[in-house]
This record gives sequence, structure tokens and C-alpha cells, in this order.
Amino acid sequence: MATVRDEIDRFKVGLTTTQAPFIEEARDKGQLYIHQPYGLYSAENHEAWKKLFARMQPRWERYANPWFQRGIASLCLDPDHVPKLEDVNQFLNPLTGFRAKAVSGYVAAYLFFDCLRNREFPTTITIRRADKLDYLPEPDIFHDIAGHVPMHTDRAFADTLVQFGECARTAALMVRDIRDEERQLHTLESIIRAMARFFWFTIEFGLMKDKERGLSVYGSGLLSSFGEIAHCVESPDVQRYPIQLEWVINQGFEIDKYQPLLFVVDSFDHLFSLVNDLERWMKDGKLNNVAPGEPGVNAEDLRSFLDAAL
Ligand SMILES: [Fe+2]
Repeated sequence: MATVRDEIDRFKVGLTTTQAPFIEEARDKGQLYIHQPYGLYSAENHEAWKKLFARMQPRWERYANPWFQRGIASLCLDPDHVPKLEDVNQFLNPLTGFRAKAVSGYVAAYLFFDCLRNREFPTTITIRRADKLDYLPEPDIFHDIAGHVPMHTDRAFADTLVQFGECARTAALMVRDIRDEERQLHTLESIIRAMARFFWFTIEFGLMKDKERGLSVYGSGLLSSFGEIAHCVESPDVQRYPIQLEWVINQGFEIDKYQPLLFVVDSFDHLFSLVNDLERWMKDGKLNNVAPGEPGVNAEDLRSFLDAAL
């Protein structure tokens, strides 16, 4: 029998990826950082979260990095309801100083990395439709909170994200001093492309050596994908290589397909040292002319670096 709450929920438009008037309004007003209007989630939104969480759980147990599994437990995520960011932050913040910060949509590259530098994670608050659970190219709250945030409970991983933010600041300072505008834009575009590739092949799609299982998954794009989390470890169609900085920064990728090429790190300390190497390479000018190709760098990304308050 339908309860009064069910009746109320029936009339809620919800906060769905494809339909969220609250988000459209915020974007129209130019508001990037927003609050999470929790009461707007519909019954269908909670149903989507519940289904996503339930089907991922056995796959996380089988494939996810042990730190991720510890992170899921320490965040006390409710398997049945879309999480409240303030509840997540209550558990997350004392562990590593990180907190999830609600955003209305795309965060330009410098702003994104600068949030990381300040231990803030820009978080999408909408959720995919309950009848379309499979991987979407755009993030939603399941990708951001269930895929990314559990990793932010680990100190070495959290410090790595902060170091990405430091890299972005170094890049903004470096290009600020280039007087020739054409050279400035070429250099900046190349550095952003290199950073985006490195982020993609580690934070979003990274694999780690695992003593017992051979490999474990720590990349959030994989941890939030029901199909790809198994495919990336099991399929003979995936190339898996020890990570090499010079390769990753020159390697393009496509966002709307299972990844045919993935890179393996030894540990999060290893990953942290690679981000330090990335910054050193940047200072030495080795990121100024990386191979062209994906991902594209848009005008908003470039502008965000040039306008950075340093
Ligand atoms: Fe992501």
C-alpha cells in the first residue's frame, strides 16, 4: 500500500542526471558551488542508488583495492539512500581533511585542481536514471561519492590529490611569465593535456599491483562501473603495463568506451612520487609539447589557469 511519503515522492521531479530543474536554475544564475537540496531526491533517485550499490558490492569485494573497501566501510554509506554530503563529510573530514563539495556541473580545469589543493572534492549531486544504470560519460553522485570519495579516506591517496593541485598552481605560475601569447597558450594547452591524461590513467582508471590477486582496482571510473570493473582485470582485450610517466602524458584516450590500455602502479606512495615527478618535468619544460590528441582542452580550461588567483 502506498504511504503518504510515496505519494509525495511521486510528484517530485527529483535530481536526475537528465532532469534536474534545481541544477538548471543554479547554472542559469552562474552558481557553480551549491548546496545539496536533499529533500528534492525522488523515490526513483533513491532506487537508482540502491540498485547501483547492491550490484557493485560483490564486485568491489572481488576487484577493488583494499583501501577502497576500508574507505567504503569507514564512510558508513547507506546502501539504500542517496548519501547526504554532510554525513559523508562527517566521517571523511577527520580522516584526511577532505570534504565533498556540491557543484552544479562542469568545473574548469584549474578550479577543479585548486579544490583538490584545498582538500575539497567537487561533487555532482544528480544521479542517473534508475532504468539506465550503466556507465555514463558524465559523472553523477554514484561515480563521485561511491567511486571517488572512499579513496579519499586514505592518507597517501589524499596527499596525491593535493599534489595534483600543487602541480596546477605551478603550471599557472609558470605560464603567467610567458610574454608571447601564442607560446603561452600552446604551453598551457600542452600542460593541461598532460595533467588530464595523467589524472585519467591514475585517479580515474588506475590499477595497482596486489600480492594476493595480482591486480586491484583503484581508479574511480572503474570502481563505479559494473561492467568495466571486471573487464579491466579479466579481459584479454585489455593491455596492462607498469606505469611510465613519459608514456602516460603522451597517451590519448576515449571516454565513451571500455579502456583498451591501462597502467599499473606499485602503491599509493609510488603514485605520489609520480605526481612529484610530473611537477618536476613540468618545471623542466618536458610537458610543453606533449603529443596532440585527446583529451581536448577547451577555452574555459585555458582561461581558468590564466585567471587563477595566485
Ligand atoms: Fe571521476
